[in-house]
Amino acid sequence: MHRFEYRDGELYCEDVRVRDVVAKYGTPLYLYSRNTFKDHFYRLKEAFKEVRPIICYSVKANSNLAVLDTLRQCGAGFDVVSSGEIFRVQQIGADPRKVVYASVGKDEADIRLALDWGILMFNVESEAELWLINNVAQKMGKKAKVALRINPDVDARTHDYITTAKKENKFGIDLYTAETIFANKRRYPNVEIVGLHIHIGSQIIDTRPYLTALEKVKQFISRIQSYKPRLKYLNIGGGLGIRYKDERPDTADRFAERVLPAIKSLGLRLIMEPGRFIAGNSGIFLTKVIYVKRTPAKNFVVVDGGMNDLIRPSLYKAYHFIWPIEDRARDRMVADVVGPICESGDFFAKDRDLPVVDRGDILAVFSAGAYGFVMASNYNSRPRPAEVMVDKDKVFLIRKRESFKDLIRGEKII
Ligand code: LLP
Repeated sequence: MHRFEYRDGELYCEDVRVRDVVAKYGTPLYLYSRNTFKDHFYRLKEAFKEVRPIICYSVKANSNLAVLDTLRQCGAGFDVVSSGEIFRVQQIGADPRKVVYASVGKDEADIRLALDWGILMFNVESEAELWLINNVAQKMGKKAKVALRINPDVDARTHDYITTAKKENKFGIDLYTAETIFANKRRYPNVEIVGLHIHIGSQIIDTRPYLTALEKVKQFISRIQSYKPRLKYLNIGGGLGIRYKDERPDTADRFAERVLPAIKSLGLRLIMEPGRFIAGNSGIFLTKVIYVKRTPAKNFVVVDGGMNDLIRPSLYKAYHFIWPIEDRARDRMVADVVGPICESGDFFAKDRDLPVVDRGDILAVFSAGAYGFVMASNYNSRPRPAEVMVDKDKVFLIRKRESFKDLIRGEKII
């Protein structure tokens, strides 16, 4: 569910006509619906309300300050993966006691910053990291709270690049090593292991891999009982899939219904780290048709947005629904929707059945709210797009379009 809909052949974001936003801010452009972010957050919160989860929105999915602040106001905590993300959530006055910190490569300065700020816990991804956290905490005269991110070796049945809990993935600690950590926990006097964490992948459509992973967590907890662990939290990560095309992921209610029995039987406080579920369908990407190029082999709709703005189709062959913002009766054409960048991988869609479009038409690329702007780059010296947020009938520019000057900021001729 989201708040982008066609009314009388015109695309609206909440109560604002998208055409008017484009007229004011130009293209390429990211456009977000504030109330869709909220709806998704509350839907998850409501579905899990009987266990009062700590919902830590995964900042990497969309880290614009206005998005983070919207979710903070709803009561969200945050899942961060870098000092830069800590800096962002600090800017919006987030409560550090609702911040969890994953990433396989936290270095000393990152750990120091997080400890100093007083985050809820680190999600520790290796024994070496646990050593370093213990060491830094000792130097700072602190005790660091951590969850061990375990790698349960399950296949989340999603794209290879976003599968994270198979034993050949770089994430988490294998069960054997995790057990030895509990056995030797006295070696880490400045660390308190308060939880377990799993994150099995992203865009997961089928709840079963979660159940398999939870079963492994359960077995693991019973195996380590002799070491008297003092676990308080279970963090089940993010990964809930959304609808891009015709996927039928479980709704929040259905997901809760299926995983809650397993979670309740463990008696631990639940933490979740949803990113895409909240942000994915809360944003669209808008781009203008520059040319329609017909060749003997194919038709190409050349648009002013490129893979530097939205890389998901190029990187994962991800499907995004694309449609003109003015939906009038038109003939159909089959075309590749491509950007202006000098790479054959610069496309938003291949062989797509589309209404016949023309120079100047605006296309909406849907479900671009997560892993859209955050993965944008300046490749081909293209300023990154603006970001705009709609709240009912109000429109806010939440990130200015970059200028040519921004492109060379910090550079120097020698
Ligand atoms: N927690 C951890 C530890 C994660 O690594 C991630 C995402 C999340 C939570 C949030 O996952 P979500 O609920 O959004 O699935 N760029 C890719 C997705 C990469 C996901 C990385 N980790 C894409 O565009 O599909």
